[in-house]
Amino acid sequence: MGKLDGRVAVLTGAGRGIGAAVAETFAAEGACVVVNDLGAPMEGGGTDQGPAHEIAEKINAAGGKAVANTADVTSFEQTGELIQTAVREFGKMDILVNVAGIIRDSMIFKMDEAQWDSVIAVHLKGTFNTTRHASVHWRENRGGQFRLINFVSGSGLYGSPTQPNYAAAKMGIVGLTFSCANALGGYGVTSNCIAPVAFTRMTESLEGKATVMNYSASNPRISAQNVVPPVLYLAMEDSAWLNGRVIESGNGSIGLFSNPVMTRQVTKDGVWELDEAIQEMETSFRSAIESPNPFARKS
Ligand SMILES: NC(=O)c1ccc[n+]([C@@H]2O[C@H](COP(=O)([O-])OP(=O)(O)OC[C@H]3O[C@@H](n4cnc5c(N)ncnc54)[C@H](O)[C@@H]3O)[C@@H](O)[C@H]2O)c1
Repeated sequence: MGKLDGRVAVLTGAGRGIGAAVAETFAAEGACVVVNDLGAPMEGGGTDQGPAHEIAEKINAAGGKAVANTADVTSFEQTGELIQTAVREFGKMDILVNVAGIIRDSMIFKMDEAQWDSVIAVHLKGTFNTTRHASVHWRENRGGQFRLINFVSGSGLYGSPTQPNYAAAKMGIVGLTFSCANALGGYGVTSNCIAPVAFTRMTESLEGKATVMNYSASNPRISAQNVVPPVLYLAMEDSAWLNGRVIESGNGSIGLFSNPVMTRQVTKDGVWELDEAIQEMETSFRSAIESPNPFARKS
């Protein structure tokens, strides 16, 4: 018995890296999968039919069920067709995993409009596009056990200084996921985020650098495959209790983030005097922030 027997999944960005590892595991666990990948370079701006077809063929050769799809997730029209491919080929669509991504790094003061727009388009608009089309299918077929799994990043959660576009796009996806968790729960959909850590082409420039992780192709602990277990669990029917959460996965660690909670609040029954509000914030909030500004530049 596979953990995803009888389930149908659409995975974007599944021709390479983490997406490919997820697709292969889902298929090995019995899911029928649509392997979407535009075949873009790491910084976007190109296409290659190869990656999606190679992974789909690999899955089929191993006895699984897969079809390749090379839709561009930035296209509303093409992502509609992507979701329909699953329904046409496999009769339904239970699981959507949004993995597709590009990076175009720069400090905020050097970032140009194209860098900003392209990264927002692939990650945030792309995740909206697929999710929008999937949600229509799920709403029409309510009563199932549907799953939305969106890939986000520590870059947004921790505030990477060289990736303002990517950090913003990924935190936009966190907000989108929280909204879907509330909106779609009644239709049998759980919506969660995975913040992965893995050695792929996106992180290979970190190889040999002094980071807390040992980024290396020869380190199995930081492999794309080692991200997969919680993604698989989120896709399973057993995880119906888990909704609206962010889970970090990789380097041998699986972590649950807390959702934002207000830690201090000052209130007034009326209109604040400016100095009064400032004084209340100084008194109440300063003591709640234990460390100095965590985002302060380290020199
Ligand atoms: N590798 C990490 O440590 C890490 C860390 C944090 C977040 N992430 C996120 O995890 C996801 C997977 O990253 P990866 O490291 O496997 O990267 P990757 O570059 O190996 O894979 C990303 C895939 O997305 C595809 N893609 C890009 N634009 C597309 C588009 N418009 N339409 C369809 N497909 C498109 C690419 O062709 C590529 O195959 C991404 O969302 C990334 O931002 C990765």
